[in-house]
Amino acid sequence: MPKESHKKIGICADHGGFELKEKIKPFLIENQFLPIDFGANVLDNTDDYPDFVIPLSKAVAAGEVFRGIAICGSGVGACIAANKVSDVRAALITEHFSAHQGVEDDDMNLICLGGRITGYASAEEFVMAFLKAKFIGAERHVRRLRKIQKLEERD
Ligand code: RB5
Repeated sequence: MPKESHKKIGICADHGGFELKEKIKPFLIENQFLPIDFGANVLDNTDDYPDFVIPLSKAVAAGEVFRGIAICGSGVGACIAANKVSDVRAALITEHFSAHQGVEDDDMNLICLGGRITGYASAEEFVMAFLKAKFIGAERHVRRLRKIQKLEERD
């Protein structure tokens, strides 16, 4: 059973990522995280990823969850939607290095996965690398992020 004290990880998927989401949730619990599921709650081939990705992204931006995992068929749509929300730094992850380096250098707080692209074993590795990584926060990293943040000041 997950404990309330475990770090909350927001997770969501449309129909293209539903199966992978359902596999990742117990994996998170086994690794002492508490998955917070933003849907979909059932496999529905007519659902739309923004309906799940936007609420998840807002929760990440508000700090209601530690980090987020958004899954659609390719991961592309989820990534586009997530990055429209201010203070979300999302990337589509398809290999191990970027899963942690994206946090270390770019303070990535949400990963997107392709449920039709990435197999379960690789997804597990990427998720763990992402969740264990820490932002290094070197002056150059902060400087670059501020340049991106300025774009959001118009919102
Ligand atoms: C839905 O069929 C599919 O287009 C969606 O899951 C995703 O791949 C979008 O990027």
